Amino acid sequence: MGRFSILVGDITQSDAEAIVNAANESLLGGSGVDGAIHRAAGPELLAECRTLHGCPTGQAKLTKGYQLKARYVLHTPGPVWQGGEHDEAALLASCYRSCLQLAEENGIQSVDFPCISTGVFGYPAAQAASVSLRAIMDFLRDHDTPQQVRVVCHTEEAAKVLRQMYNFWFAGTKADRL
Ligand code: APR
Repeated sequence: MGRFSILVGDITQSDAEAIVNAANESLLGGSGVDGAIHRAAGPELLAECRTLHGCPTGQAKLTKGYQLKARYVLHTPGPVWQGGEHDEAALLASCYRSCLQLAEENGIQSVDFPCISTGVFGYPAAQAASVSLRAIMDFLRDHDTPQQVRVVCHTEEAAKVLRQMYNFWFAGTKADRL
């Protein structure tokens, strides 16, 4: 897999240079991974987020990581799943691309993503996996930075879906040999 890998874990414990937060447009915290990251980073994260005045879906903003091991947090609001006819795929791909572009602009060499939009926002895991993998692999093909990108799945089940999609699309493994 080279520069890309999939693992199971708690992204708040990540030692990547930057972790991605599956936020909402207010950037003022929430439940899920957003809540976990804010709890782990401490109150200074929210204080900095307040200065950002929100972030449109599909775009990304950078803050420090504060009490996290990660030096930075890339905040990106994913799309809410509305059945697939409301630009959800394009917006989700834009989340991954925007975070990677911001990482490159800031010379960040390792980025860990959660599975954006697949929790509270209801994006079906397999469809989200195809979109996220395509966006990540396209960016890595065309850019040298970041050097390492990982998707940190909260559950083995989520990782299984992602690995199956990776093998189907990128490892030359046809679906019948998964
Ligand atoms: N580490 C890694 N992944 C996690 C963690 C964690 N500690 N906690 C949750 N996840 C996973 C979920 O299992 C899911 O696969 O992150 C993925 C995204 O789920 P959510 O956190 O619910 O995010 P999302 O679906 O994008 O919804 C965003 O939820 O928390 C609010 O403020 C947030 O309004 C926003 C919405």
